[in-house]
Amino acid sequence: MYRTHTCGDLRLENVDQIITLSGWVQKARSLGAMTFIDLRDRYGITQVVVEEGSADLVKEAAAALGREYVITVSGKVVERQSKNSKIATGDIEIIATDITILSKSDTPPFTIEENSDGGDELRMKYRYLDLRRPPLKRNMILRHKMAQAVRNYLDSQNFLEIETPYLIKSTPEGARDFIVPSRMNTGEFYALPQSPQTFKQLLMVSGYDRYFQIVRCFRDEDLRADRQPEFTQIDCEMAFVEREDVLSTFEGMIKSMFKTIMGVEIDYQFPRMSWQDAMAYYGNDKPDIRFEMKINDVTDVVKGSDFPIFDSAEYIGAIAAEGCAAYTRKQIDALTAFVKRPQVGATGMVYVKCEAGGQYKSSVDKFYSAEQLADLAAKCGAKEGDLILLLCGDRKKTLSALSALRLEMGDILGLRDNSKFAPLWVVDFPLLEWDEETERFYAMHHPFTSPVKEDLELFSTDPGKVRADAYDFILNGTEVGGGSIRIHEAELQERMFEVLGFTPEQAQEQFGFIINAFKFGAPPHGGIAFGFDRFCSLFGGTETIRDYIAFPKNNSGRDVMIDSPSPVVEEQLKELGISLR
Ligand code: AMO
Repeated sequence: MYRTHTCGDLRLENVDQIITLSGWVQKARSLGAMTFIDLRDRYGITQVVVEEGSADLVKEAAAALGREYVITVSGKVVERQSKNSKIATGDIEIIATDITILSKSDTPPFTIEENSDGGDELRMKYRYLDLRRPPLKRNMILRHKMAQAVRNYLDSQNFLEIETPYLIKSTPEGARDFIVPSRMNTGEFYALPQSPQTFKQLLMVSGYDRYFQIVRCFRDEDLRADRQPEFTQIDCEMAFVEREDVLSTFEGMIKSMFKTIMGVEIDYQFPRMSWQDAMAYYGNDKPDIRFEMKINDVTDVVKGSDFPIFDSAEYIGAIAAEGCAAYTRKQIDALTAFVKRPQVGATGMVYVKCEAGGQYKSSVDKFYSAEQLADLAAKCGAKEGDLILLLCGDRKKTLSALSALRLEMGDILGLRDNSKFAPLWVVDFPLLEWDEETERFYAMHHPFTSPVKEDLELFSTDPGKVRADAYDFILNGTEVGGGSIRIHEAELQERMFEVLGFTPEQAQEQFGFIINAFKFGAPPHGGIAFGFDRFCSLFGGTETIRDYIAFPKNNSGRDVMIDSPSPVVEEQLKELGISLR
């Protein structure tokens, strides 16, 4: 028998029992004639003692142990003299009467403990060792629990979990596809799904009115902390629903996850914000509303006072940082350097300090009277002791830079506490986005998104103004989910493809299957997909989704452990009819 208990089980009430444990040697250290072994498994760590008077065989085995050896230990549970309150089994230890080495280990390339001395790449290369560490183990358990909570909730709401294929035809989600050559159909390719979007809509046509799937999606896009080339969605679709039905169903799911996983009861309705307001007041479509510090359009207040930079700008925006009027030159310079970073993109920053007694001190004093600065402060809701920061330029770019500055100030002021949660629905996205370069409209979300009913008439006259019946779920400034009510009328869908610049033939070729399906009785339907990895990382309190994926890719999309992607042999290429350029 390998074990009677796990390394996390034993307590004072087990004292005097004869038990057997199996696990990995985290550490073995000799103190005089005694050896202490920290034995680890998935459940915890237990201290094993080999005493001076032990049998020779046991002492020999103990002396031979190295880090990460796999062993089985039998012995008696005793109360510990010096207890260790840091571990759950810290009140007891095992006096070993038998030790069997099951498997030896090379010296591991980094320490396998709560905090490791290994760098990122090294730990990625030996991911299977890193996964033995408690932080990753906690993340894997959290992920499992969250998936269980999702399944329980959706099952209780009558959703069916249905699998959809991975070898498909390109889906229009906006990223590049990963493609897979077909041997049996030389010269032809499958695409891996960027999401099961079209399949879940077909399932609605088939009458499966509540579908979900915890499913892998594949997108060939530039990677960031919250993006992986293969990631997991909680993908959902419902028939005979309007926007409110979808939002309330999934608000219910999110609340139930907060309750079961985090023990947090959310007893209010999630706030809603229009996309327009999100862009105007937060500078992006995923506002972090854990803190206020809204962006204010101050163009009218500061333009026209002969300050050339402002006078020539399309837009001037400002935020007021509470209690920062005493910022030093150095602190202001650091913020200026921040906004000038290429990723942020501002050319400079103007500040106004709201000092005691209604005094203002600013970098552009000579252009503005005290009254003008007071007007500015009023417009920004700034009071005595606050610091106003202004950026100017092209409206879109300046708002984006202000958004970055706002988040930076939020970080500096400790307003983005990861143990606090601020959920938000962003609604009323534009349906279409005009692209200057190609001079055509693109679907902001995907081409199956329905316009809001009231805007249908604008579809022919002013398509750029049409709002989408779409919604994003935002948690702490991260886009966790997105979805929409779909078009279910074949004619409207055809019209949409037309606006997107598809000829009827092109639309038929790429999406004929769905256009045709809609001709056979398509119910009104809508849905949403949540980024499951992002959800896990937010619940876990860290930013990188990699930490919640057992075997992730690095930032260049490589799996450095299995060394992939990698070349294939000529024979394989030949079979596929492929030659490399
Ligand atoms: P969307 O493209 O918005 O919608 O994706 C849904 C959610 O998936 C997550 N996500 C990612 N997570 C990690 N790595 C990535 N590369 C990545 N890309 C997206 C985000 C996002 O909110 N079919 C539609 C959904 C629908 O309309 O029902 C879709 O895929 O959290």
